Amino acid sequence: MKKRLSINFLKEITNIDKHSTECLIFGVNSEKNYDTLTSKLNTYTGDTLKKLNKRKEFEAKLGQSTYIATPTGLKAERLYLIGLGKRSQKKTHDQLEKIIELIVTSATLSKAKQVTIILPALKYESSDELFLQLLAKSLESRVYTYDAKINKKNKKINYLKKVNISLSSLKSEKKLRKAIKQGHVIGQGMNVTKDLANLPGNICTPSYLATVSRAAARNYSSLACKVLGEKEMKKLGMDCLLSVGNGSAQESKLISLNYLGGKKDDQPYAIVGKGITFDTGGISLKPGGAMDEMKFDMTGAASVIGTLQVVAELRLPINVIGLVAAAENMPGSKATKPGDVVKTMSGLTVEVLNTDAEGRLVLADALTYVKKWKPKTVIDIATLTGACIVALGYSTSGLMANNQALAEKLLDAGQKSSDRAWQLPLWDVYQKDLDSNFADIANIGGRAGTITAACFLSRFTEDLKWAHLDIAGPANFKGPAKGASGRPVPLLSQYLIEES
Ligand code: BES
Ligand code: MN
Ligand code: ZN
Repeated sequence: MKKRLSINFLKEITNIDKHSTECLIFGVNSEKNYDTLTSKLNTYTGDTLKKLNKRKEFEAKLGQSTYIATPTGLKAERLYLIGLGKRSQKKTHDQLEKIIELIVTSATLSKAKQVTIILPALKYESSDELFLQLLAKSLESRVYTYDAKINKKNKKINYLKKVNISLSSLKSEKKLRKAIKQGHVIGQGMNVTKDLANLPGNICTPSYLATVSRAAARNYSSLACKVLGEKEMKKLGMDCLLSVGNGSAQESKLISLNYLGGKKDDQPYAIVGKGITFDTGGISLKPGGAMDEMKFDMTGAASVIGTLQVVAELRLPINVIGLVAAAENMPGSKATKPGDVVKTMSGLTVEVLNTDAEGRLVLADALTYVKKWKPKTVIDIATLTGACIVALGYSTSGLMANNQALAEKLLDAGQKSSDRAWQLPLWDVYQKDLDSNFADIANIGGRAGTITAACFLSRFTEDLKWAHLDIAGPANFKGPAKGASGRPVPLLSQYLIEES
């Protein structure tokens, strides 16, 4: 994976005046009795901290920050002060996120190539590792720029190249370094996902996803890739998956990316991604507004490809199957029509009432196919329903599962990795919404669009420990920041790290 930053852990710095750096980002507690290092910083800079406090410009409250362009008494060329709030007060996860956001924004706004971050007394001992992991992840992820298909002179310049982090902690240096490495690699995995999701639909086709997956397998000896084309899928009875690509000139692909890090016959974890490389809606054509964003409809697949590389890079001692169901949803003379009935690999027949509910159709056969590996757990990831955005907005993924223990592990992984999901019910009362007079089930029904989509998937996962992540909201940013977010690579990586 491409590394955009070099991130290093520094042992505790004692001579703060002698530390030369283009930019020093220093965390300050709000108590008046400074720790040794903060006290030194104040003295060398001619009482800067005390003066700022007196003027009420910077009291080191949590969430405050200030910039000193040309500090005196230091070898640092620039100085950013970050308020950490009370040292004596344990920080919540939200507060930790706020501090990280300030540090990362300062580091990237500074235009320095090299930055040193010193946090002498964060006092969040129970979570020093998590803090460093999240900081490293955010730094690597933030310096992402989309470079493909943009002429040199229009490319965004990314100044930051090197970050040193120093934290006084009771935890061993080895553990702290490991946490930084994990976060750094997760950030790289997010950027892999962003690069794929940001590519336009005319380049990122199902075949392109196959090519990228094969390339990943060449880079890591622990990864193996296998690609099924339409002929092979037809033989396996995947008419349901294939029905989605019927209107497209692009061949549908089912791509597996298998990671072997555990013993050969350890049961694998499986992650299955929706890979609709463009979703026009098909014959149930979408309206024109913002339809370009349907190039992001393969973000589930991109997050699978990104996460498998995180797992391989970290050499986790487990086995993981990544499965990508890739197709392009187009109208055309051969396209599936509303009312068409298709057969799934599982044997169930489906009445396609709306060709725009296509994600569940490709996933149905992928979730049936994944059973051949007898996975320990299966998680599918999909930009599945606009209704999920109505329910949870852009910040939160929808989670539905047929196994509560798995659901709770994923909720926890999302919380820890700042990549949150919220659970919606998968009760039986919703299942009847999928009743059909012309097939075993219909592909749409009812008012609870996110839940009925999951109900549809649940018909193919009855004998699995399965969870479904609807990432329609968090997959990409809108407006001026339009672009892929790299989510839910942090959540998936965290889950797999915790399981290993
Ligand atoms: N890819 C869309 C869901 C989507 C919508 C993702 C907006 C991101 C932003 C999915 O294939 C779809 O079209 N779903 C339909 C389902 C409906 C026909 C039951 C939807 O949400 O409108
Ligand atoms: Mn659709
Ligand atoms: Zn879709």
